[in-house]
Amino acid sequence: MSTHIAAKPGEIAGTILLPGDPLRAQFIAETYLENPRQYTAVRNIFGYTGTYRGKPLSVQGTGMGIPSISIYIHELFRDYGVQRAVRIGTAGAVQESLKLRDIVLAMSASTDSAVNLRRFGGRSYAPAASWGLLKTAWDMAVSKGWTPAVGNVVCSDLFYGDDGEEWKLWARYGALALEMESAELYTVAAKFKREALAILTISDHLVTGEQTTSEERQSAFTRMMELALETAVSPACPSVSP
Ligand code: HPA
Repeated sequence: MSTHIAAKPGEIAGTILLPGDPLRAQFIAETYLENPRQYTAVRNIFGYTGTYRGKPLSVQGTGMGIPSISIYIHELFRDYGVQRAVRIGTAGAVQESLKLRDIVLAMSASTDSAVNLRRFGGRSYAPAASWGLLKTAWDMAVSKGWTPAVGNVVCSDLFYGDDGEEWKLWARYGALALEMESAELYTVAAKFKREALAILTISDHLVTGEQTTSEERQSAFTRMMELALETAVSPACPSVSP
């Protein structure tokens, strides 16, 4: 048991999918995993381990925002030896060229959070996805006839900011979408020398004001989950760099 996860040593697979929503973790476990077993329900953040296409795979919620995902991934990497983490989540598009339900592979994650300024003594760290996972996800998507957007996302601390226009500056510098967890996932993965990738679905659009309906979200999430599952267990994925 770690502080926030009730699993015993060995109960969490080396590869994990990380949705923000614990009920989505339960849905993925019950829908896609063979023989899923719940290993934690501490704070209703559910985690399950089973197999996918015969390979061990876990799925666990992270909650929303940097402080929440930070706690879970620290314990998953440090205490349970997780090697490969694929976040699946939603994001708000800041580029007109993106459409609702598009898939975004977060190559890098800028942030308005102060966590990395604090960690790095005022220096600007550039949180980035693991190349092997990014390439595998891209190749897998293309083989299905999909063309995800790939680029920089913005990991924001405030869903409800005071100035509703801040996203425009990020957009001018080419950011694709806003979300709230990837910068910390990439930074902590780098700290522990593990692999990480965030695969996101556009659920709302800051340029056009559009939002997905719940049916649209479900079908878009299905594509994203299948891409994440296949990427996570892919043998084609080269292991970690340095
Ligand atoms: N902002 C931050 N996180 C999000 C958004 C957004 O607009 N949409 C989905 N996740």
